[in-house]
Amino acid sequence: MDRRDFFKISLAGGVSLALVQRPKALAGTSSSFVPSNSKEYFDSTGSFTQQELIELAEKHGAPLYVYDGDLIIKKFQEFRKAFQDNYPKVNIHYAFKANTNLNVLSMLRKQGAAGECISTGEMEMGFEVGYKAEEMMFTSNSKSLSELEFAVKKGVLINLDSIPDLENLIEVCKKLRKQVRVSFRINPDINPHTHKNISTGHKFTKFGILQSEEELLKAYKMAKENSYILPEGVHSHIGSQILEVEPFLENVEIVTSVALKLKEKLGLELKFLNLGGGLGIPYYDNQIGLTPKKLAETVCPVIKEKLKNFKNLPELWLEPGRYFVAQSGILISRVNSVKLTPYKNFINVNTGFNHLARPLLYEAYHRVRILGERINFSKDLQEYEVAGNICETGDILAQQRYLPLPKVGSYLAFLDVGAYGFSMSSEYNSFFLPAEIMKKRGSYYLIRKRETLQDLLRNQITHPELKT
Ligand code: LLP
Repeated sequence: MDRRDFFKISLAGGVSLALVQRPKALAGTSSSFVPSNSKEYFDSTGSFTQQELIELAEKHGAPLYVYDGDLIIKKFQEFRKAFQDNYPKVNIHYAFKANTNLNVLSMLRKQGAAGECISTGEMEMGFEVGYKAEEMMFTSNSKSLSELEFAVKKGVLINLDSIPDLENLIEVCKKLRKQVRVSFRINPDINPHTHKNISTGHKFTKFGILQSEEELLKAYKMAKENSYILPEGVHSHIGSQILEVEPFLENVEIVTSVALKLKEKLGLELKFLNLGGGLGIPYYDNQIGLTPKKLAETVCPVIKEKLKNFKNLPELWLEPGRYFVAQSGILISRVNSVKLTPYKNFINVNTGFNHLARPLLYEAYHRVRILGERINFSKDLQEYEVAGNICETGDILAQQRYLPLPKVGSYLAFLDVGAYGFSMSSEYNSFFLPAEIMKKRGSYYLIRKRETLQDLLRNQITHPELKT
């Protein structure tokens, strides 16, 4: 069959663009669905024009991460306001792992964010840009003694995952003769209705203490009775990219019940309840997200009501990552070639899952835009897979997208990649990590240089003896 005939069939086959593009995950959300390349270029930032992105890529090269710094601040402020309007004492810890660029960390700190860290590396980065020890917390299901020692010495609050984790901490504190503030992460056994690899709060995951009353009370009792350990809070993070309010509501019901139980059985009035992060963002055109306002209006009254007999209402801690940064980020790649086959058509770009791992790891959808193309919807669109340059079959960054035929050398942008984009990137296949640019108040800043060969070679040590 002639290639052109194949296209005629696939396009004339009566398949509506809307149907092909509409992802399964969206059933029940929004009914109208716009193909991923609209006539007018648009992205979630509303701040970049196509021409601007093309110029940035021309100047700094591609692949290139570009962020809208003003949007990060706007998202933080929107989130904080939603909770402050509904609760008297709110403390927001930005989950550093979503995007650890130092400029992002310091810009959020300036806004009043504290930090949620998973490693000594993240804590060190926090210190680097001015976070104080008491403004950071350390959560991990698997902490080494040296990591614990680091956090205790510095005075960072430790979020414990289990009784064995507590036992390790007690050893460290004894050795250092130093007290430490802690919370325990509980596992509330909730289905957050998100991808399985980012569901953290159900009973088969590795996270937290299952909220069997016995185990939890034992953990807090041990902590309370040890002079080095100051139990101050309870923590529960149920997953990421959650767009329904119900799982958050279930979580807050459980967390508040735990707080009540601790007061009743151990006479322990917690200083804070930490509901974790997890608020999702709309990744699809016309997808309806969950707003911080709706979330706050749902969970805050539950805490106020259930804990109304506390002498002091506990602080409410939250630790979003994605919500603040995801929509601000765009990854610009360059089209290397377009390959048409009888089965599938591929747009080959000069980036891959080494720079954007989410499609492979979570079957994640990122909208794509071919920059600078004028699109005639009635005739120009074909179905393409956007293929990365990593030597693996799974390296498909976008599937079944109706796009115009791009010219070799033109730019293709992936949207909403500000969270877990660069921060999950690697040097696999020995490609250089991309540069990062931030736009703020109309100016552009290079916030990370593109890697060079020196970066790839930097820590390698060659030995003449090993040649033979
Ligand atoms: N708190 C804890 C304890 C966490 O483990 C996480 C994320 C957060 C807060 C922030 O969650 P967020 O608000 O960003 O949903 N790489 C995946 C997401 C992994 C999330 C890991 N933990 C992705 O690209 O979807």
